[in-house]
Amino acid sequence: HPIHLKDYRPPEFLIDRVELRFELDPECTRVEARLALRRNPAATRGDGHLRLHGEHLKLTQVAIDGHVLTPAEYRVDGEGLTLHRVPDRFTLETWVEIHPGLNTALEGLYQSGDLLCTQCEAEGFRRITYFLDRPDVMARYTTTLIADRTRFPVLLSNGNPVARAELPDGRHSVTWEDPFPKPSYLFALVAGDLSVIEDGFVTASGRNVKLQIFVEPHNLDKGAHAMRSLKKAMRWDEERFGREYDLDIYMIVAVSHFNMGAMENKGLNVFNDKFVLARPDTATDADFDGIESVIAHEYFHNWTGNRITCRDWFQLSLKEGFTVYRDQEFTSDVGSRAVKRIRDVRTLRAHQFPEDAGPLAHPVRPDSYIEINNFYTTTVYDKGAEVVRMQAALLGPETFRRATDLYFERHDGQAVTTEDFVRCMEGASGRDLTQFRRWYEQAGTPELHIRGEYDATAGAYTLSVCQQTPATPGQPIKQPFHIPLAIGLLGADGRDLPVWLAGESAPPALGTRLLELTEPEHRFTFTGLSERPVPSLLRGFSAPVRVHDDLSDADRMFLMAHDSDGFNRWDAAQTLHERLLLALTNDVAHPIPEDYIAACRRALCDMSADRALLAEVLSLPSETYLSDRMTVIDVDGLHRAHRQLTQHIGERLRDDLLAVYHANAETGDYVFSPEAIGRRALKNLALAYLMRAGDEEGLALCHAQLEAAHNMTDVMAALRLLAEQGGAEADAALDAFHRRWAGESLVLDKWFSVQASAPRPDALERVMALLKHPDYSARNPNRVRALVSTFSNVNQVRFHAADGAGYHFLVDRVLELDPVNPLLAARLLKPLVRWRRFDSERQTLMRAELERVLGRSELSSDVFEVVSKALA
Ligand code: ARG
Ligand code: ZN
Repeated sequence: HPIHLKDYRPPEFLIDRVELRFELDPECTRVEARLALRRNPAATRGDGHLRLHGEHLKLTQVAIDGHVLTPAEYRVDGEGLTLHRVPDRFTLETWVEIHPGLNTALEGLYQSGDLLCTQCEAEGFRRITYFLDRPDVMARYTTTLIADRTRFPVLLSNGNPVARAELPDGRHSVTWEDPFPKPSYLFALVAGDLSVIEDGFVTASGRNVKLQIFVEPHNLDKGAHAMRSLKKAMRWDEERFGREYDLDIYMIVAVSHFNMGAMENKGLNVFNDKFVLARPDTATDADFDGIESVIAHEYFHNWTGNRITCRDWFQLSLKEGFTVYRDQEFTSDVGSRAVKRIRDVRTLRAHQFPEDAGPLAHPVRPDSYIEINNFYTTTVYDKGAEVVRMQAALLGPETFRRATDLYFERHDGQAVTTEDFVRCMEGASGRDLTQFRRWYEQAGTPELHIRGEYDATAGAYTLSVCQQTPATPGQPIKQPFHIPLAIGLLGADGRDLPVWLAGESAPPALGTRLLELTEPEHRFTFTGLSERPVPSLLRGFSAPVRVHDDLSDADRMFLMAHDSDGFNRWDAAQTLHERLLLALTNDVAHPIPEDYIAACRRALCDMSADRALLAEVLSLPSETYLSDRMTVIDVDGLHRAHRQLTQHIGERLRDDLLAVYHANAETGDYVFSPEAIGRRALKNLALAYLMRAGDEEGLALCHAQLEAAHNMTDVMAALRLLAEQGGAEADAALDAFHRRWAGESLVLDKWFSVQASAPRPDALERVMALLKHPDYSARNPNRVRALVSTFSNVNQVRFHAADGAGYHFLVDRVLELDPVNPLLAARLLKPLVRWRRFDSERQTLMRAELERVLGRSELSSDVFEVVSKALA
């Protein structure tokens, strides 16, 4: 049953105070809740009944104002508790029993190893107690946790600890009080035998905050990077957004069973341990980066999400889009802005653009859903961040800061909408963003067609720009978007020329200029140009659109060498790689131009540039990304072309690649700095080209690196290349790695995923054998993702094998997991959703597998929604 935004009604009742008392036990936990309810003056009166959400709860008793109700006075069903006739203001008490040890869905209260922990967003709180489990009901919580002292010495919840007691029978209790009203999805508790890493932070206004990161005892040596990241994020949010932390303690707990990345529960973040734990020898540079940005993301939620929350789940991007924007800006400010932008756009193009072009396309603010868990999407998160970024660009930095100040001031303590956010942007800037709002309402990726024309006699250059957005499910006709288009013009010497619009009395300062598109078509004429400029379009990727331009390959090589915009240097190179790869896919004998190879060599040897940026410039687009650029995806052709071009570059640039490898070799201890990460990235890219070209010296270097490396970045780079090649040496290396890292769960995930991604002909057989490995567990989402998702999302050529065995394998896993963990099962299905993009044989096979899912009775709403929409 879909839920619609248009049906939103304010809650009939509000809850001011919540007192919870947990008697914790994995087999049977007793939860006593005392809720202070009152009629909402702002709501219309309903039928007199009060419905509370509740699922998988065993109700033992219910009382109103101290009077125990008889069964005739209430009704319980699978979705909740209905109270017939209630006063306008009353105290409700309920007593329920739950079973965390049997909760495999990892929503609500569940067991992870020896810990008990919670995940309540979006609708997990209703698996803990009866409640108005919706984000516009904000209450103050007091929580008492009671548990066995030896099994659960640490008892945590939101806010500050206010009381502790030792109880008879070996139990103890801790009471927590959270002074800030919050929606139920931000509730959390954790109980277990945890070690803690402690530090402190003094806020801008001089308050002391205790910082604690809780980990299982054997991980105590892997929390330092997370702690450093947290302090960096706290300082940055004060400086960039004027936001200070508001409680006396900030706690983070790392758990090994977690469906998503992490969760911003007030004062008590619960994290997938993958985004907390790192030591140079166990985690790669990408892992270190991931930790820094997820720690920052959850911290930033304290203002964008917690202090100001969402009115309803259609507004999810209000907190997620804005918070992703904030974490992206943080990473850009503490590292390289161009590299961060490149990585974010790479993700957007690889995941969000296909989502926007497929059967699950939805607006940043969706207008209906069946299962909200399916809407934690790249559209809501990443396109949502782009929509905030465009508003920041339209307003300019100072005005945008005034607008966010206004937002924080006006809406602190409230549950609001994306509309309220845009109104603050308008209020602070005086701009009319009526048309801009379409970014929240219309799905689909706009396409820009841009042509340039130079008039030598007039010294003028004209760009004509058309926008058009393809239809998406339920939205056949699109209105034009308000698009900020940042451009530059390059002269023959490679430098920026003034972007001087005809009619303006004087040229503007050199550099980038923001044009605004609002109509289906525009013409912009630039003046004062004594030569034909090369346009640098959509600098910094100023809008989430696809650009079709009329630049020549020579223009792109020029931009790749000279553009002052680092992002566009990369983007020019990407387009060159992409066009060549697609040409090779269609025709094996397509020539690989000399000037292309020369451009790659120039980039490779440009020692003045940021190494990380060069590594990005020289990385070919992935097969998965390229497949989105084909009308009918040619899986095998793309794979062959990719290998062909990689090998060609490896052979032609051999000596330079070897020189770059040696010049960037690791000396001394591991350092986590943008500079050192860039060196490792470029060195390992050089190694990859050499290995894939079958170079003997490359192979020797690869073995030597695997032997000698003392950091996981270099180990994994070498292991991945060996695993790709296969053979006895690869198997020996994999075995040795497994022995070395037995018991280190996050490292074992790497061992699984490196095998799942290797495009060897026997990849599926290996993956199926690994399902039976004693270290495999379908109960651990990280392990499932490492093996199953890596195979189906990364190993495109083997997953899409022509016999359909990959599809059958995936659907078996989905059906197995659906009764266990529906959220995870629904996510696994993603690679099958774009089935219409393949050739007719593969379409038939993929559709049959989707139908096999739909034929199963008792599907979860998560899986049902994905499959039914995919087939629609
Ligand atoms: N709010 C979390 C974040 O930081 C994501 C939690 C989503 N959980 C879920 N069950 N859908 O992005
Ligand atoms: Zn988030």
